[in-house]
Amino acid sequence: MDQFLLLKEELTPESDDNAKEALSDTRIMLTLLDINIAGTVTASDTLKWMVMYVADNRKVQTKIHKELDDLENHSGDLRHCRSKMTYCEAVLREVMRMRPATPVAFKHKTLCDTKLGGYDIPKDTLVYPNIWAIHHDPKNWVSPETFMPERFLDKDGSLKKLDKKTWLPFSSGKRKCVGEALAMAEIMMIMALFFRRFSVSFPPDVQPDFEPMMFELNNTPFPQKIIVQKRG
Ligand code: HEM
Repeated sequence: MDQFLLLKEELTPESDDNAKEALSDTRIMLTLLDINIAGTVTASDTLKWMVMYVADNRKVQTKIHKELDDLENHSGDLRHCRSKMTYCEAVLREVMRMRPATPVAFKHKTLCDTKLGGYDIPKDTLVYPNIWAIHHDPKNWVSPETFMPERFLDKDGSLKKLDKKTWLPFSSGKRKCVGEALAMAEIMMIMALFFRRFSVSFPPDVQPDFEPMMFELNNTPFPQKIIVQKRG
């Protein structure tokens, strides 16, 4: 916002009309609104699903804690360790596969007659990319309903190259999410700082509910009880 406002201050009556329009209060407000809406609920929903999956998978949680403890003991500061958090990143990829924040991506209009998967799609058709279906298709994934971060790791623990045709929580093509790099960085940072200090579990009498509460533009879990404990 600061950058937009600084640019606006540089405008003169002789400035280009397009620049004046792009820096009008309305356009600045709408751009900031876009970034806020697109960039906050998506990341917080992903973190909520992550806490639930980790609470439900004790072995996964133990491996997260071990990776973070080892890195912290070795380097002293987790903020410089993102590329070494391979297990944590595999967990995040698996959470985003199982519960993509935007299960049905934004609709787009075909610009010409085209074919997709054997279907004829005429010009000017609205197309909804069904990310959820791609992420849960047994043709793409072994046991797609099972939470298995290891599917993203090689035998030596390094991250596999992502197949962008089957893993696409940020959608695909020219209009794919502009916030992907920021989202991955911020979620990984919050994940590391949280799990370094806390462990999570479901209370013994609670049956975790992994059904999405809202399902289309957003994918939010139902509110449910989780125990958060400070680690030793
Ligand atoms: C877990 C986090 C996120 C997920 C899963 C996600 C997912 C998506 C998806 C599926 C789209 C639709 C792409 C399409 O039109 O096909 C999108 C668009 C967009 N996202 Fe994200 N997003 C995330 C975080 C963010 C963040 C952090 C920002 C910005 C700070 C952001 C900004 C945007 C914007 C501006 C668009 C519209 C892009 C365009 O129409 O050209 N997103 N996102």
